[in-house]
Amino acid sequence: MTIRILATSPLVGPALDTLGSRFPQLLVAPFRSPEWASALTEAEALVVLLSEPLTEQDLAAAPALRAVGTYSVGVNHLPLEACDRRGITVVSTPGVLTDATADLALALLLAVARRLPEGEALVRSGTWQGWAPGQLLGTGLAGKTCGILGSGPIGRAFARRVWALGMHPVFWDREGEGGEVDFGPGRAPRLALPDLLGRSAVISLHCPLTDQTRGLLDRPALEQLPAGALVVNTARGSIVDEGALMDLLDAGRLGGAGLDVYAGEPALDPRWRRTPRAILLPHLGSATVEAREAMARMLCDGLAAALSRPR
Ligand code: DGY
Repeated sequence: MTIRILATSPLVGPALDTLGSRFPQLLVAPFRSPEWASALTEAEALVVLLSEPLTEQDLAAAPALRAVGTYSVGVNHLPLEACDRRGITVVSTPGVLTDATADLALALLLAVARRLPEGEALVRSGTWQGWAPGQLLGTGLAGKTCGILGSGPIGRAFARRVWALGMHPVFWDREGEGGEVDFGPGRAPRLALPDLLGRSAVISLHCPLTDQTRGLLDRPALEQLPAGALVVNTARGSIVDEGALMDLLDAGRLGGAGLDVYAGEPALDPRWRRTPRAILLPHLGSATVEAREAMARMLCDGLAAALSRPR
């Protein structure tokens, strides 16, 4: 039977199988495997992961393609313009992973600020000698400014979280400087990037990776942060100059970094593993059962709608 839906991986929950029964046949085959490449020639809908960069050449090899779905909110790995030209619907999963991702950014911030991995390692090592006045002192957050790059749902959800800690959120976004962002319990100023960087004890990235944001936090930008500032990235690694970030952490100029994402992941720059004051997670932003099931439902509903439309 003809393959109508070609996915590179099972998803969490029953949604993909349900979609496959509605629009048989579903094939799950690893991205770029010979089986995947062969099924591409007849597939009407694709499901890919954020780590699977689909190209314009892939689209050219898929004459029957009507929809591309990614199991992520980010779409930077998709050939959006080519999809648009061909009238191929692009489906992603905005909204349903907002809280999960903002929670993880908060977890990273607290873990970096309060040195949780070091404390945990000390206890596990069996060498802990007991409470001591100066042991593993961290950084307080209340009363400090938190610069948030991106004022979309995740940036605003993160603002609510740091506001609850007593921090003062400020935003940069692609709208440009001026005005305020309403994040629910309060409003925060939208600043020019240099202004935000100069006053933020913490910055957290919540903007998509686009031509405008690639390399946004380059070395000169990172050097504008106050000494001891903390950097949290749950967005995309390529928004930051990782080499500059590592240099500034190595030099003790920045206080710490909590990272969930990396340029070229999962192939990490090996220097990361030796960089002090960095907490490294394996892209867990949306990794809750609730979020991943909701993402699968949203993605499969979107693909079903696209496949149900008359040609
Ligand atoms: C996404 O879905 O794009 C996020 O990176 C998940 O963490």
